[in-house]
Amino acid sequence: MPVLEELLLERAGLPADTVDHLRLLLDDWQILADLSFADLLLFVGHTLPDAKATYLCVGQMRPYTAQTIYSEDLVGQAFPVTDRPMVGRAMAEQRVIRDADPDWSTGVPVREEAIPVHFRGEVVAVVTREANVATARSPSQLELTYLQSAGELAQMLADGTFPYGGGQPEERELSPRVGDGIMRVDAEGTVTFASPNAISAYRRLGSLEQYVGQHLSMFDLGHAELTAALRSGEPVVTEVERQGAVVMRRLLPLIGHDDVIGGLLLVREITELRRHERALRLKDATIREIHHRVKNNLQTVASLLRLQGRRLQSAEARDALAESVRRISSIALVHETLSQESRQRVDFLKVARRIVEMLGDGLTDPDVPVRFEIDGEPGDLPADVATPLALVITELLQNCVEHAFPGAAEAGAARGGTVGLRFACEPETLSVTVSDDGVGLPPGATLDSVANLGLQIARTLVESELGGTLTAPPVPAGTTVQLVVPLP
Ligand SMILES: Nc1ncnc2c1ncn2[C@@H]1O[C@H](COP(=O)(O)OP(=O)(O)OP(=O)(O)O)[C@@H](O)[C@H]1O
Ligand SMILES: [Mg+2]
Repeated sequence: MPVLEELLLERAGLPADTVDHLRLLLDDWQILADLSFADLLLFVGHTLPDAKATYLCVGQMRPYTAQTIYSEDLVGQAFPVTDRPMVGRAMAEQRVIRDADPDWSTGVPVREEAIPVHFRGEVVAVVTREANVATARSPSQLELTYLQSAGELAQMLADGTFPYGGGQPEERELSPRVGDGIMRVDAEGTVTFASPNAISAYRRLGSLEQYVGQHLSMFDLGHAELTAALRSGEPVVTEVERQGAVVMRRLLPLIGHDDVIGGLLLVREITELRRHERALRLKDATIREIHHRVKNNLQTVASLLRLQGRRLQSAEARDALAESVRRISSIALVHETLSQESRQRVDFLKVARRIVEMLGDGLTDPDVPVRFEIDGEPGDLPADVATPLALVITELLQNCVEHAFPGAAEAGAARGGTVGLRFACEPETLSVTVSDDGVGLPPGATLDSVANLGLQIARTLVESELGGTLTAPPVPAGTTVQLVVPLP
């Protein structure tokens, strides 16, 4: 169970919907830390087994925009209530509590603020904002705008309008942060502040010279979505593209007294990122196309051999060609699977099923019914393991079909049987067992003593290509061959 759930559900005993609300807050509070130039801590009330009342720290966020006060991790620590009087006051008075004088207990002057977190009409937790004021100079306009916006977000937290409910942006990790660029707009969508990064991002779109005082519609092609967000009070994340440049924007409406009083527009230029993604997709498509062509070529080779086989008189020569066709087809199967996957990994169960199907189709004697069973999960395998493995499995299964159940003529009575293919995935190895309940190897024989071309191919591939082992453990009936290969 993730730490937060353990802390909130088990130790603090909070109901699940409250935990969900606090999770939303923790997903989104980086912006509050950055705008405040402050460390954030999240506290919930917690009674220790010895009935002592404490505040349990359940979340911590450091600002990207300032130096942190706490180099240590406080999550999971319980503080005696006397250590954090402001947290208690914020809970009791249900309002934002501000420190008049900086606190010097950590060695640097720290200004603290405690913000009650409202959820469903109750205070469920308290966020503290703690800023080091030692470095405070006369603040720039950027800093003033940040601090003002932080104050408004903090008030929204106390009012229960932040964090925003509803869906989260899909690409959270791409979602712009304060440092990427920020604009402030009024309730109608007119810019009142633009950070240098935000201006640079919009310049890439070939927009204006001057932004402050302009309405979004003057320079943002996707302004309709942004102004809609301002009207509805719901945040939005969208992208605009122009002249090959891509800018992602996240609009966070600021709400005071149930009305939208303005908005924060976080802006990030992601042109390079998108270009990179496009290039990767193209490369991926090319690789798949090549696998597709390799598969086609292998299938052509197989058909040529098949055609040639039909014209041969000698049964032995025909069998030899048929076997080659089978081997080539099992390699083609792996390439076919690779041409359908975007990762360079193969869902090997799919390949195994196709091999079994192919061998089943090749069975000709209706008096010797053979049933196949596949068990376990080989998982996704890299292409360089999948190809040799497919070949080895084809050989071993083919042997079961060919040798384990002699037909009516040879055995005197028709009998079929079952062939099993079992996968067992350990963290670092894959073991594959091919077994049948047929006649078994000749008495006293080992894999090496009976090996013809088929088993030789299998052993060579397992040992030199896959770095694994191939063994035939003694079994009471039938034949079992096991191979164990290391997974990269
Ligand atoms: N599952 C099995 N049951 C019974 N005998 C088997 C089994 N697997 C292998 N053998 C014996 O081992 C021998 C060697 O197998 P191997 O695959 O090396 O050659 P092959 O099947 O005879 O020819 P090919 O080169 O076409 O595969 C077989 O001829 C058969 O006698
Ligand atoms: Mg064989």
